Amino acid sequence: MTLEEKASLCAGADMWRTAAVERIGVPSLFMADGPHGIRKEQADVLLGGAAPATCFPTGSALGSSWNKQLLEEVGASLGREARHLGVDLLLGPGINMKRSPLNGRNFEYYSEDPYLSGELGAGFVAGVQSEHVGATLKHFACNNTEHERMTINSVVDERTLREIYLAAFERIVKQAKPWAIMCSYNKVNGTYAAEHHELLTAILREEWGFEGFVMSDWLAVDDRVVGLKAGLDLEMPGPAEANARYIVEAVRSGKLEERVLNAAVGHVLVAAAKLAERQAEQESEQEQEQEQEQEQEQEQEQEQEQEQEQEQERARRGCDFAAHHALARRAAEECIVLLKNSGELLPLDPMQAGKIAVIGAFAQAPLYQGGGSAKVNPTQLESAWEEMGRLAAQSGGQLVLTYAAGYEAAAEGSGEGGGMQQGEQLIGEAVQLASESEAAVIFVGMPEGESRDRTDMDLPAAHIQLIQSVAAAQRNCIVVINGGSAIAMQPWIEAVPAVIMGWLPGQAGGSAIASILFGQSNPSGKLSETFPVKLSDNPSFLNFPGENGITLYGEGLYVGYRYYDKKAIQPQFPFGHGLSYSTFSYSSLKLNKAMLTDQETLNVSAQITNTGSRAGMEVVQLYVHDQESEWGRPDKELKGFVKVSLQAGQTKEVTFTLEKRDLSYYNPKVRQWVAETGRFTLLVGSSSADIRLQGEVFLKATEKLEAPKDANSTISEWLTVPSGRVALQYAAEHLVKDEVLKGELERGDLHDFYKQMPLYKFVKLVAPTEADAVRLIGMFNPINASDQT
Ligand code: BGC
Repeated sequence: MTLEEKASLCAGADMWRTAAVERIGVPSLFMADGPHGIRKEQADVLLGGAAPATCFPTGSALGSSWNKQLLEEVGASLGREARHLGVDLLLGPGINMKRSPLNGRNFEYYSEDPYLSGELGAGFVAGVQSEHVGATLKHFACNNTEHERMTINSVVDERTLREIYLAAFERIVKQAKPWAIMCSYNKVNGTYAAEHHELLTAILREEWGFEGFVMSDWLAVDDRVVGLKAGLDLEMPGPAEANARYIVEAVRSGKLEERVLNAAVGHVLVAAAKLAERQAEQESEQEQEQEQEQEQEQEQEQEQEQEQEQEQERARRGCDFAAHHALARRAAEECIVLLKNSGELLPLDPMQAGKIAVIGAFAQAPLYQGGGSAKVNPTQLESAWEEMGRLAAQSGGQLVLTYAAGYEAAAEGSGEGGGMQQGEQLIGEAVQLASESEAAVIFVGMPEGESRDRTDMDLPAAHIQLIQSVAAAQRNCIVVINGGSAIAMQPWIEAVPAVIMGWLPGQAGGSAIASILFGQSNPSGKLSETFPVKLSDNPSFLNFPGENGITLYGEGLYVGYRYYDKKAIQPQFPFGHGLSYSTFSYSSLKLNKAMLTDQETLNVSAQITNTGSRAGMEVVQLYVHDQESEWGRPDKELKGFVKVSLQAGQTKEVTFTLEKRDLSYYNPKVRQWVAETGRFTLLVGSSSADIRLQGEVFLKATEKLEAPKDANSTISEWLTVPSGRVALQYAAEHLVKDEVLKGELERGDLHDFYKQMPLYKFVKLVAPTEADAVRLIGMFNPINASDQT
């Protein structure tokens, strides 16, 4: 390839395509957003009219399914739709952490927990790529606010970065090998993600072994050559003629080594080769089909059989929108979280419900997805009202529905804090209907969208007033919430017996909500984020979204339940919470070892029984607690989950396997994951706050990692290595004049004043001459002192 051809491959050909090099048969890849549906635009349009495609539940809904297998199925359907629409690469999943309930893009993201996001994301990517369509992890990294999103500097310490903000990316890269990763707009500790060598090369490629290509978010490139050197392979969108010239000139002038350019081109070509392989396969499949057809003519007997097989194959590979809609409904049913159900008000029985008031404009005009690049043009759209109407029609007059709008629905995804107009009259009508009914189902919600964070986590004022007014007139109120993040419920939660978190459930959300309300399906979603009582309880409250160009991750590791646990703050609903119409009992916790080394794995199993009267699914969660640790650790960390399906009365065993990494924390001093010798508690439960079983294991670390030491290391750190202890004894015997210090050194109980001193300052204090100082420093052997204790 010529230098110019190589430079051309480092940017898109247009808004959605990579460049082709026809001369040597390099095809162009067509990309489309995601993540929860294919938003196929024309090649030169950013936000136009996308081709119709199935709108699945959005990320935060899927996150609450806690079902990796389901995510894989959704991913595979997206892969088939992508192929059908001529899309080669899906721009999803989005796996940023839900740090604050205010982030405008929360609806695209799975969870506040990196293990949950990582596992679900790995399932999703595996599903998409099983159809030979690429998936793209985004937005790498620390893109947790929409505030000043193209310039904001996310300031985060190294341990938090590793344990919280990079961990989901790492898990998915290692497990599912995504074709691509999209770097974010923001800076991370002062450097644009698009120019961050440590993130894009040292960590992503060299440490995690990423083999795909790195692309920029749309217009995230600042200095293209700096980006290339850092590991940014592809600039999007294109064309980027000026930057192509800049790259060529940089190589010619020696500013950029050609091997760096070659590497970037190589990464893009890996994906192009996968596409070419798929195209060749498709062609050969077609040829085979033709050949088979000819054979069929000759072999009449086999004809029927082969045709059937081909039909099955076509159905498997083809894009069946009706089947995908059915999957979107099943997925939505699994995502919906039953938050509260006092007095078992739910499920409603359609044959006995009587008159039900359906209140809230979102019952008829559903709030089912967010705004911005993730917005999908659905193939069809169900409303809860229509679906409930169907049930009423089948009830032989036993179920009678009435409707009141209650408020005006704002433009979907407007992100304007609800944008609803308060109307006393609308509320009055709703109250009237509710008071004449057996029960009221109130649909409320909060739109959200890209480019703008929310300013509070309350429902629109008109919705709050509606709930309060209706609840005053009707005891049997069921509130159904649509939105992409946690919302505050304090002003009304005590007044209503039942609450359902419907998330943004996609195009089949209407029937899914109706089916949960009337018990045709049993709720099994669990919260993938904590719902605090109020915004100021959220750990990022004081730092979100930030100011002066900086968003400071001041809460460190303590994101979500890690914080509420540590501070003993009671949330409205804890991480992992979700009710069912069944009940489940937990018993017989077993650990296959009481003691293990960090080279071994640990199996944890428990028996789960459905003690209710109907079939259901339970999400069994495993958390780990390190009993004694040199460094601070959260009280518990999710390290396993299983969604188990049980008939009434049935018992099943669930098993988890833990390895060293599951017991580790990231130690920035040694720049490694460290699992320390000591006791760990294994906590198995139905939510982070509802632990049902506990066991204990003793871990023996096989190596103790020591950070390299130098003249800046403290005396306390030097005391942990033999060369340091020997040198300090020498100092005591030969150099130290101060009798008190001498005694302390000899007895080994040095005062903190000395322990906290960097070595070079201590030497200055105790060595009488410069020659003594040089000799003493030499004894500490700084070059090689990382060895042993
Ligand atoms: C978004 C990405 C999206 C891209 C293309 C950007 O503004 O941040 O998530 O994939 O646009 O639409």
